[in-house]
Amino acid sequence: MKADFHIWRGDASGGKFEMYSTEVAEGMVVLDAVHQIQAEQANDLAVRWNCKAGKCGSCSAEVNGLPKLMCMTRLSELPLDKPVLLQPLKAFPLIKDLVTDVSWNYSVKKKIKKFKPRAPDAKDGTWRMYQQDIDRVQEFRKCIECFLCQDVCHVLREHQLYDRFIGPRFLVYTAALEMHPLDIEDRMDDLKKANGIGYCNITKCCTSVCPEDITITDNAIIPLKERVADRFYDPVKRLFRLFRSK
Ligand code: FES
Repeated sequence: MKADFHIWRGDASGGKFEMYSTEVAEGMVVLDAVHQIQAEQANDLAVRWNCKAGKCGSCSAEVNGLPKLMCMTRLSELPLDKPVLLQPLKAFPLIKDLVTDVSWNYSVKKKIKKFKPRAPDAKDGTWRMYQQDIDRVQEFRKCIECFLCQDVCHVLREHQLYDRFIGPRFLVYTAALEMHPLDIEDRMDDLKKANGIGYCNITKCCTSVCPEDITITDNAIIPLKERVADRFYDPVKRLFRLFRSK
């Protein structure tokens, strides 16, 4: 059977949706259809991909208005009686067609304080950790940096607070460091000020689009917000800090 695809074509200076019709078969994903259109009808169609297995995070786009990995979105999940709408991520500058410039994310990552382990627990230079503490951060390390959570986050997408908020991806990254049983770095001040955790109002949009099913809001962002609240707003701790600083 044939299916129709409305694909955004253009670059930063402008563009428009173009309609393509292509043969589809059972088991095809959106990225298959895009490759077929690229091969048969639009050789200059720009699309970023790499693994085609949901693990590299390259093929992020908006499919029928929802942030998705094109390689993991089966055509059978979509209503093919209407054209499938394909657009680039809206939260990042467009390079061409379905490809956006996500380099802002890499500059954010560089600014987050790195892993700083405590001194080794044993004379042979090794550490001792509880498995449950490792399990807790393991979830965060599943992130493939597809940036779908950044794309759907209204603080970035609508309000464009790129200079004040690091977005859910990097709150997850910070959580993985902060909750690591060996880490002794202090990122609370950065989280509150430069990294803008207060801007997140826990709508859970990020959690709902994560292809790795990371419980971004409940397991990463809310515990970090609690740590920031404990540090800066707990009256007993504030009093304690006041006395200590005298
Ligand atoms: Fe790697 Fe889709 S091509 S995640």
